[in-house]
Amino acid sequence: MTVLTNVFGTENPALHALLLETKMLAPEGYRLFAKIMQFLARSKVPGDFVEVGCERGRTSCFLQEHILRLFPEKTLHVFDSFTGLPPEEPGERYNAPTKGMMSVPLSLFYETFALCKLPLPHIHAGWFRDTLPVSLPSNICFAFLDGDMMSSMRISLQEVIPRLADGGICAIHDYRISPVWDEGVRRACDEYFRQELPMADAMAIFQIRNGAVQPLPKEVITV
Ligand SMILES: C[S@@+](CC[C@H](N)C(=O)[O-])C[C@H]1O[C@@H](n2cnc3c(N)ncnc32)[C@H](O)[C@@H]1O
Repeated sequence: MTVLTNVFGTENPALHALLLETKMLAPEGYRLFAKIMQFLARSKVPGDFVEVGCERGRTSCFLQEHILRLFPEKTLHVFDSFTGLPPEEPGERYNAPTKGMMSVPLSLFYETFALCKLPLPHIHAGWFRDTLPVSLPSNICFAFLDGDMMSSMRISLQEVIPRLADGGICAIHDYRISPVWDEGVRRACDEYFRQELPMADAMAIFQIRNGAVQPLPKEVITV
């Protein structure tokens, strides 16, 4: 059990096994999320949790497990088409057609939660452009944005960032350009923030304070 806690920051054996399989986030990413959640609990930031792009729900389970332990009054909202990525928009460049890539049906998301014996979060199925404007909670304490594509990140930023609570934290996956994806996530971020974002474990990770982007304290991002 000690090993489980050290590797991913979870003591749920089924979840640990699932996280070992995934290439979505490295163990350091999960440990970082665990530390961020403890930090949020200490600083009593209001608002709920959101994951924009949840695929089969492995990271959602990780978040849900921590929420149940640390924030019983808060809820997790997850968003996905459950039919995979949308087609590229003009200006997006990928090594392969994106339409339908990562298509994981909602039934698999249910299975992941059943396997980990965790209660389901609020699930918002559909394209981000349709679901985010109407279904995001009005106050968000932590957002994980993982939509991969420039168009998906654009709408995620437009809808999520204004709803972050003061002191709320946002993590953006694929901010560091990877050899597989184009630089769409970074381009969407540059367009929105017009500044370089603080990074940890290959993600952009920052807090919003008084409407401005701030890095997290060093002790939180050191895993
Ligand atoms: C990299 S996966 C998410 C992985 C997940 N966060 C994890 O850590 O396991 C990206 C997901 O975003 C979803 N997605 C991307 N763009 C979308 C859009 N515009 N609308 C709805 N879903 C979208 C895809 O269906 C896919 O499941």
